[in-house]
Formats: sequence, C-alpha cells, structure tokens
Amino acid sequence: MTNADVLIIGSGVAALQLAIRLNKDLNVRILTKSTIRTANSYLAQGGIAAAIGPHDHPSKHFVDTLEAGRFQNDREVVQQIIDEAPALIMEISNKGNLFDKNQNGDLLLGLEGAHSENRIVHGGGDATGKNLMEFLIAQLKENVCIEENAFAYELIVNKEKNRCIGVKVKKPDGTIQVHYGTHIIIATGGCGQLFNYTSNAETVSGDGITMAYLAGAQIEDMEFIQFHPTLLYIDGKTKGLISEAVRGEGAILITEDGIPIMDGVHPYKDLAPRHVVSQTIYEYLKNGKKVFLDISKIENFHKRFPSITFLCEENGIHLSEGRLPVAPGCHFLMGGIKTDLFGSTSIDGLFAIGEAACTGLHGANRLASNSLLEGLFQGKKLSEWINSAPLESLDPEPQSLTISLKQNKVGLPEIGLLKDLMMERVGIVRNDADLIKQKAWLEQFKTHEINEWDSYSVSELTTLFMLIIAQLITKSALERTESRGGHFRSDYPFEDDRNWLRKSITHKHNRGM
Ligand code: SIN
Repeated sequence: MTNADVLIIGSGVAALQLAIRLNKDLNVRILTKSTIRTANSYLAQGGIAAAIGPHDHPSKHFVDTLEAGRFQNDREVVQQIIDEAPALIMEISNKGNLFDKNQNGDLLLGLEGAHSENRIVHGGGDATGKNLMEFLIAQLKENVCIEENAFAYELIVNKEKNRCIGVKVKKPDGTIQVHYGTHIIIATGGCGQLFNYTSNAETVSGDGITMAYLAGAQIEDMEFIQFHPTLLYIDGKTKGLISEAVRGEGAILITEDGIPIMDGVHPYKDLAPRHVVSQTIYEYLKNGKKVFLDISKIENFHKRFPSITFLCEENGIHLSEGRLPVAPGCHFLMGGIKTDLFGSTSIDGLFAIGEAACTGLHGANRLASNSLLEGLFQGKKLSEWINSAPLESLDPEPQSLTISLKQNKVGLPEIGLLKDLMMERVGIVRNDADLIKQKAWLEQFKTHEINEWDSYSVSELTTLFMLIIAQLITKSALERTESRGGHFRSDYPFEDDRNWLRKSITHKHNRGM
C-alpha cells in the first residue's frame, strides 16, 4: 500500500506537465501500465497549435476550432485555452531548444487541416511529441516516483462522501496493489485501440475512462471519434501516422490513376477538416479503389519528415516513388470524462486531464494540433490549483480483495474480432442497422453482471474495459440521430441544429447503488 498527495494514472504530456509543476514538497506518484515513454503523446508528429504568426490572432484560431468542432465546443473553454496557447509555447521555447526555427531564430509554423493560418509549432521535423516528452521527463524531480507496468483497474471511492481516495493496480504477475492518494488524476488518453485501423499506441484502450465510468463519474460525447485521414496502409493493415503536416507542405490525395480526390469536395481541398477528408477516402476504399498521398512536390521530404521517412522505409515504401498508400484510422476521442478546465470531474478528489477528459475544447471534431495544447494547458492549470488549494486528505480505507480464481467469469471475445466489428459498424460511416447489430453483439458479454474485478488478469481486464467503452460509443452513436464532425450517420447525413446543437449525450453508471 502507498499513499501519495497526488496519484497520476498515465504518463503522457498532460500527466508530465502536471507532475513537473507540482510543489516539490508534494509526494507525487505516476502509475503507468507500460513504460513512461509508451504514450500517444510520444508518437505525436504534427505539433502544437498557437496563434503566434505575424498575420495570425487567437480570434482566428478560436473560429477554426469551432468550425472543425462543428460548434459542439464549449466556447468559454475554447477561448481560454486558445488565448493562453502563445504563452504556453513561448514558455517552453524559452526553456528548451525543442522547436524548429528558421535562420533568424523565429519559430517555423506549419499548416494543417482546417487552420486558416500557419500556426503549428513543431520539433525535430515531425517528432514534436517525442521532443516534448523528453523535455518534460528531464524536468521530473525526486518528489515524483514512477511505477511502470502498473495496470490501474478500479478506483476506490468513499460513496458517502462522493470522494475518490485511491486505486487498485494489477502487476503483470497478477499481484494486486492498493495506492491511496489525496488527488487522483486520470491521464490515460483515449481508446484508439478499439478500432482495427488506428494511429494509437498499443496501450491506449480506454481503461481510465472505463474506471471513471464504473466509479460513477459522468462521461460524455463518446460518439465523437476522430478518424485521421492518412495512416500508411499496406496489405489491408494500417502501419502508423502520416502527419497532416505533409498535406500542409503540399501533398495531395490522389487515386491510383493520379486523379486528385479532394477537388470540389471542400473549399480547403486536401486540408479540409479531418472528418471530411476521411469520409471521402473511405468512399473510395469501400468501392475497391486505392488512395495515395502524392508527395512528389515536397522538396527534402526526409529532412522535414524524418520519422515518416523511417516509417515508410521500415515498411518497404520508397519515397522516390512519390506516393504513399493511405487509409483513414482512429486517431482521437473528443469525448471522455466530463471535466471543467482544471480537470475536476463529478467525483470529488478525481480529476481527468488530456485526451481522457472531455473539457469541451474539441466539440464534435478536434482541430489538428489542439491536443498537445490541451494537455499542456490542463496540466498547468491543475498544478496551480493543487499547489494553491490542495484538498484535505482522507484516511485510507482497508480494501478486501477477491483474489480467488472465480468459476463464473464472463466470457470474452477475441480482441481482433471486437476491433474489426467496431471499425465496420461504428467506424467512419455509421447507420441504425449496424449500430443496433453491434449493440446486441456487445451485450452478449455480460459486463454489467460483473461485481468484482480482482480475479481478472490484466489482459482480461483490458478486453472487458474495451467492451464497456465500445458499448458507450455504440449507444451514443445510436442515440445521436444526425451527423456532426466525427460522428457520421449515412441515415441522418446532415447536422440537425434544431434538436442537437451543443446537446451532449452523457453516461453515468450507478456504481452498484
Ligand atoms: C498529425 O500530425 O497529423 C496529427 C496531429 C494531430 O492529431 O493534432
């Protein structure tokens, strides 16, 4: 058993930004299910959006964020985060030399989809996430203890006080640990591994959101899933992200015969919002056609995009061919645990930051490169809040563990089948019949009958949590009878502003009461 002032579950940018800024007299523990560097943040290529260019202004970044989010966003949240973006960038840039600059020492600003200006700050060409993570890791101090290979699976909540006080953790050998904390932070990212086409790290399977849901926290906007238009696509499998910044530098999407596919689809063409581009590519693939990213006009591609160059070479694609085969895949969850700007949830003592949180910044579809920004912002805000007004600690409550091997565990599906069916029925294009089929399929695994989690292994817990998240997404997608941003229904292909504008679908578990 351990007891921390701040217990952080997850180790991406939001988690580390929080950890390095907490007062040094606070005892901080980071629990991560794999290793500290295995996070989606580490894979981020494009960069961080901030209105710092000579012709740019936060009001333009604000409008672009709402347009991409199809006005499902919380405007006050958007305003605050966008306004603070330039200062967040300059603070990091002044402290560390991780962003790319021109010969005069000015930050280079890239362009990505749905941005009206060049405003993407990047590092190492296309290794922004890695550079930022290393910068943050280097600043961790002795008050922060990191526990790797620690799979958090059950929040401990004092129900009378509606207060979260700790979490149970399973180690790879099956040992159970109990960690208490005065502030418990979920920073576990989204759920990209639920879909067979994904840009996400292998560990990103929704456990933090599921734990919060099972503990009774409010969850919202789960139907809004972002599918990134361009993942490298070989032999029917996606192999990793090809940043939108590649299109920002002039690449265009073409058919096998070299015909541009985005002409006439949207005024921004290849740099239209992601849902528009993904849905267009999807239609081609569904009709048996191939889609390529024509990179032939980009000079010195390997210098500007070294990570993508490596990814292509590793997969036998030669840049000299000038075209990369692509398909859309799951990239980001706009919904999650409902929080305010500081990460407060509907349970006292429980906070959520980064992709696991739903602050309302992204609305129905996230504007490119607004996610590292949100993580940096939330990590900073929450640290200021905890540093200035920490919560009173509650006494740990001894936990009884059910560690016997139970005979009546629920049956589990093969994980590949779950991912295939989610992609097919709850993916880029959805409809009533497929969603109903998927809901019934998911319900056969009687997750709602489970009343203890201790006897399940890490891999069983992972599958169970994916099933529960899949149910939340499917139910929300069925309920929202319109199309908006990352949620597209072929049977309701238009936005319905009379019934749905800024209305969220929420989920709340009764946590056994
Ligand atoms: C990309 O580089 O295309 C991804 C950036 C993002 O998701 O914001």
